[in-house]
Amino acid sequence: MNPGESQRAPWIVGVSGASGTPYAAAVLRALLAAGESVDLVVSRASRLTLLDETGISFRDAHWRTDLHAWLSRGADGKPGTFDVDLAGDRVRHWSAGDLAAGPSSGSYPAKGMLIVPASTASVAGVALGLSKDLLQRSASVTLKEGRRLVVAVRETPLDGRTLRHLVTLDDAGATVVPASPAFYAGATHIQDLVDFVAGRVLDAAGVEHDLYRRWRGDLGGARPTT
Ligand SMILES: Cc1cc2nc3c(=O)[nH]c(=O)nc-3n(C[C@H](O)[C@H](O)[C@H](O)COP(=O)(O)O)c2cc1C
Repeated sequence: MNPGESQRAPWIVGVSGASGTPYAAAVLRALLAAGESVDLVVSRASRLTLLDETGISFRDAHWRTDLHAWLSRGADGKPGTFDVDLAGDRVRHWSAGDLAAGPSSGSYPAKGMLIVPASTASVAGVALGLSKDLLQRSASVTLKEGRRLVVAVRETPLDGRTLRHLVTLDDAGATVVPASPAFYAGATHIQDLVDFVAGRVLDAAGVEHDLYRRWRGDLGGARPTT
């Protein structure tokens, strides 16, 4: 390694244009809380879902300000719910159109990639190896390098084409984690349901977190008392 070169090995987080920007926010917060570094790729379409779901316009030139506004919001839309520190080099942002960005090459050090939420379009693009933008290219690189790829698909109902693309991704070594919250963990707020999905994404990546109450074998053990 050249003198001064960083040992940084981030998780690449791709946010595509499916509904579910609170899932991405919860995953990003938890990665940072776990001491991980993150390289963020926000697809063009996801700017529309982010605007729709939070009112935030994500601008490449002001990504740190816009990301802070996004991550500090609760799933119920309340600003300032979470303390988020984005100072330093822990988070990097790459423009979705930048096909020369670090994550576009297998020689760029990365632990793996999480696509959360994953649209059916991104699922198709990665399954077919289209690499039409940096998100899809990074996912293809992740697979070809044999690194962990977690795909949190969000659509309903699913048609045969998407189901086949998901099987292709599974066959290629990805882990498909449908963004489908469970109700056994004692959810009482929207954030609990969001955190459950985010927690399962991180479980698939092998990242420690404390986002949801795990099943302990006691039926009704997490049910809120009234
Ligand atoms: C408000 C909004 C919500 C959307 N929700 C979904 C969704 O839940 N799942 C999905 O697959 N596509 C959804 N789409 C469509 C995708 O954004 C569209 O297919 C886009 O091409 C995805 O591009 P990307 O994968 O490059 O981000 C939604 C679009 C909008 C504007």
